[in-house]
Amino acid sequence: MKIEFTKTVQLVNNQKVSFRYPSINDVNTLRTFINKLSKEDTFIIMSGEIISVREESAYLKKNLKKIAQGDMVILICESAGRIIGSASVERNTQKRKRARHVGSFGISLLPEFRGQGLGKRLMEEALTEAKKRIVGLKMVTLDVFAPNSTAIDLYRKIGFQEVGGIPQGILFHGQYVDLIIMWKAV
Ligand SMILES: CC(C)(COP(=O)(O)OP(=O)(O)OC[C@H]1O[C@@H](n2cnc3c(N)ncnc32)[C@H](O)[C@@H]1OP(=O)(O)O)[C@@H](O)C(=O)NCCC(=O)NCCS
Repeated sequence: MKIEFTKTVQLVNNQKVSFRYPSINDVNTLRTFINKLSKEDTFIIMSGEIISVREESAYLKKNLKKIAQGDMVILICESAGRIIGSASVERNTQKRKRARHVGSFGISLLPEFRGQGLGKRLMEEALTEAKKRIVGLKMVTLDVFAPNSTAIDLYRKIGFQEVGGIPQGILFHGQYVDLIIMWKAV
């Protein structure tokens, strides 16, 4: 079954951004995107590591399989042929049958596309899509670094609540900061 999704949004500066699922042809543009974020050393897991074509290709193939199986949703944002954002919800299959109703969420945009309402739109679309495609999904959790107030504000607006955390669980810019866990029923 081919999984389709396309939506185009217009930013305040009239720039058009489209949301869609990734395909195997996106390896290079996705790699450029993730390596840019990694180099920026922002509030994501990657902090300067460079992903090779081979690594990105293996990662994408694995995720395309999860999407086809109904265990994952990824929406990427494309603008003028570039991937500028991505959001995902992935079913927790690591705990076998115990947590198949739980999904984990992640999102990132390139810096020049932030603060214009795109993250909120993308997150809403990804959560709606996840509810549709990931059968039996009942809740979504996410991890966020405590100093990431932009993301925490956004998540609260979407209805996520803080339910816990790991004190000083993350090394960020040379300091240990808290990892916050948020939760929302879907
Ligand atoms: C977090 C992120 C996805 C949010 O997307 P965004 O497009 O910047 O956010 P939006 O413009 O949709 O704004 C949504 C809300 O976030 C908050 N927000 C956005 N920009 C903000 C800023 N500069 N300062 C403080 N809050 C801000 C506001 O609450 C805003 O709601 P409002 O527009 O009603 O005021 C994006 O900033 C990003 O990719 N950041 C870097 C990577 C990252 O932190 N990923 C998340 C890891 S958990």
